[in-house]
Amino acid sequence: MANALGLVSLPAPCFRVRNLAPLGLFRPRPFVAAGNARRAPLWCCAAAVDGGVEDPVLGAAVAASSNPRLPRVVGMGSKLVGCGSAVPKLLISNDDLAQIVETSDEWISVRTGIRNRRVLTGNETVSGLAVEAARGALEMAHVEPDDVDLVIMCTSTPNDLFGCGAQVQRDLGCKNAWAFDATAACSGFVVGLITATRFIKGGGFQNVLAIGADALSRYVDWTDRGTCILFGDAAGAVLVQACSGDEDGLLGFDLHSDGHGQKHLNAIAKNEETELISNNNGAPLFPPKRSSFSCIQMNGKEVFRFAVRCVPQSIEAALEEAGLTSSSIDWLLLHQANQRIMDAVATRLQISSDKVISNLANYGNTSAASIPLALDEAVRSGKVQAGNTIAAAGFGAGLTWGSAIVRWK
Ligand code: ACO
Repeated sequence: MANALGLVSLPAPCFRVRNLAPLGLFRPRPFVAAGNARRAPLWCCAAAVDGGVEDPVLGAAVAASSNPRLPRVVGMGSKLVGCGSAVPKLLISNDDLAQIVETSDEWISVRTGIRNRRVLTGNETVSGLAVEAARGALEMAHVEPDDVDLVIMCTSTPNDLFGCGAQVQRDLGCKNAWAFDATAACSGFVVGLITATRFIKGGGFQNVLAIGADALSRYVDWTDRGTCILFGDAAGAVLVQACSGDEDGLLGFDLHSDGHGQKHLNAIAKNEETELISNNNGAPLFPPKRSSFSCIQMNGKEVFRFAVRCVPQSIEAALEEAGLTSSSIDWLLLHQANQRIMDAVATRLQISSDKVISNLANYGNTSAASIPLALDEAVRSGKVQAGNTIAAAGFGAGLTWGSAIVRWK
């Protein structure tokens, strides 16, 4: 488990401990101007190599010794300043699904609350949706792509096994940023959001995009009525920005994982048959078998029970850290998996149903995208207002779960 006090690790692995004292690191300092803050990571890596490194953006050598940059700043705040979302064009209704598996609109809507979902077709990709969502967040925040320092692409379904964060960074034109993928299934966005704040609070990062994007339709068994009715594809994004400590918008958080529950929800790697060369004893040796992934396998009842038990506990822990109670929350924004789960969590926390943000009926379970997608709709419709406090929680495969108490703007 980790919380807002415990998860801090400064994102500067290249520094040697013995170098820190002379540089004045770890001493709280005044806010660093955006330009310097953005270049700090580059200096950090350049300093680890004798004579500096080639600057990939400027195409020039960066001298480590002659160009000292301000050290990272500890103690600043971070706040959400923009959001965006994107969904594929193709809409699949419950009635459409009833054409391919034995189900009905009534069964699906009563048991889950879902009526429609969007599914990738043609040239649409998960990274394309992510780019569209991130553009919306940048526009709302009035931040240029050049001013983004880090892109965190939260996805379990990248269009490249090695991740697609860098493709998203390229397509957004964030040429001063670096990017990586974070995989934590339906908890992915909460993990990415908290990670974004850690980079900012660690110092040196001004604008961080946290994107949740998934296309679980690619991993669904469309003949399994127990799972295929649940999922849809989408992307959502937020821009997290450095601010002074007293404006800090991440009030508390709480994160967990428990691999014992993997058996209840997974899309596991499976080996394909290949002709193997045997060793002298006849045991298969080489080449390794090629891997692909199975479709999503889920014990719905167990996942349901896990969510209803663990999510309220996690939100309560995050609220406690924030010094708040559930009665002071303006909105409950849960991973959109099942309306019955959302209702049960709200009941346990004694949060009235009019404070529960839900757009599940239109999109189904969009995994890492579901929280920022619902947030974006709620902000753009005027439901969520500046200064509102939101309790957000994700849960899903891993098993993973976690919560963040945030203030919007
Ligand atoms: N249409 C009609 N009947 C169905 C369907 C369907 N689509 N699916 C299942 N049934 C049948 C079953 O066969 C069963 O029939 P039986 O009683 O004759 O055996 C009956 O309906 C009840 O099935 P259950 O699986 O017990 O239904 P349940 O009420 O548990 O609802 C559901 C299933 C909706 C999946 C629910 O368990 C759920 O939402 N679980 C949580 C899923 C979740 O939150 N996932 C989030 C994480 S996703 C991620 O991380 C990638």
